[in-house]
Amino acid sequence: MEEKDIYILAIESSCDETAAAVVKNGREVLSNVISSQIDLHTLYGGVVPEIASRKHIEKINQVIESALEEANMTLDKIDAIGVTYGPGLVGALLVGVAEAKAIAFASNKPLVGVHHIEGHVSANFIEHLDLKPPFMCLIVSGGHTHLVVVKDYGEFEIVGRTRDDAAGEAFDKVARAIGLGYPGGPKIDKASKEGNPNAIAFPKAKVDGSPFDFSFSGVKSAVLNYLNHGQMTGEEVNFNDVAASFQHAVVDVLVEKAVLAAKEYGCHQLALAGGVACNTTLREKMKEACEKHHISLYYPSPIYCTDNAAMIGCAAYYEYKKGVRHGWDLNAVPNLKLGER
Ligand code: KG4
Ligand code: ZN
Repeated sequence: MEEKDIYILAIESSCDETAAAVVKNGREVLSNVISSQIDLHTLYGGVVPEIASRKHIEKINQVIESALEEANMTLDKIDAIGVTYGPGLVGALLVGVAEAKAIAFASNKPLVGVHHIEGHVSANFIEHLDLKPPFMCLIVSGGHTHLVVVKDYGEFEIVGRTRDDAAGEAFDKVARAIGLGYPGGPKIDKASKEGNPNAIAFPKAKVDGSPFDFSFSGVKSAVLNYLNHGQMTGEEVNFNDVAASFQHAVVDVLVEKAVLAAKEYGCHQLALAGGVACNTTLREKMKEACEKHHISLYYPSPIYCTDNAAMIGCAAYYEYKKGVRHGWDLNAVPNLKLGER
């Protein structure tokens, strides 16, 4: 007998995007609606949690309605409601969680809470139908930098993590220091194209005794020191060179460790996940390295790398298939650990 199609309505509100999507059988995106608050937070140089929560409340109903409409769906055809319940900003998460609970309760549908980072990893399943666990995944977002073996859907073994800043956080802080503003990652990516990546030798942080761990605070401080030195001595600083050299230092470490981890753990497939996976140099350098080491490389299109609800729908599908159901007591968990339920 043919298996019944499963339709998930997914909601994501962990940071500054209010998003909803309808996903069929975990891999087919029928709609992916994102209402970004970036312009608003840019005024303040970063995400203001209180403003984020208020904007989510204003937008969420409309975003969900559009997601259903674009998918040509009505709520009665939906099998389950998936929602990000952590990690993220507590007030922002609560809006999505409360909304999902209300919809699930009123329509008598199962509720499936999703880990935001599991969502980022699952974004790879949308466009790569051949990608199946096990594989190595480099997760590089604004809040996380992890190397994980994806052993099965939703099953992770963490083999490396950052000791301080996340990769995206380092991009954002350096961008602010050189006056590029928020969000820093895409701006550094762009400025780097006009700069020389070998102009300044910023440190490529190694963590003693932990070949798969990361540390980005050293390179960030080195950039700040370089800028201070320029200011004090009056020497001209080429910001494009600073951006390109910083990016070069970070990307080199990400590529080296991800490839090493894939080889060490016997993974022939490596996937990238999270906002920093949009970075054009990271994609290029990772591709070169993977070709050299006969590893198949996967990464989502940029729209699925940064925060979106399609990736949450994907992850929710696999959790749903495993039988995961959450009760009406589901709460936002701002510091939810990967692999926790
Ligand atoms: O995954 P994401 O959308 O949100 C979190 O879950 O944190 O990641 C956002 C991060 C930000 O730090 C942003 O600067 C970074 O991803 N980012 C980039 C690029 N696009 C977004 N970093 C480097 N290069 C990019 N092109
Ligand atoms: Zn994210």
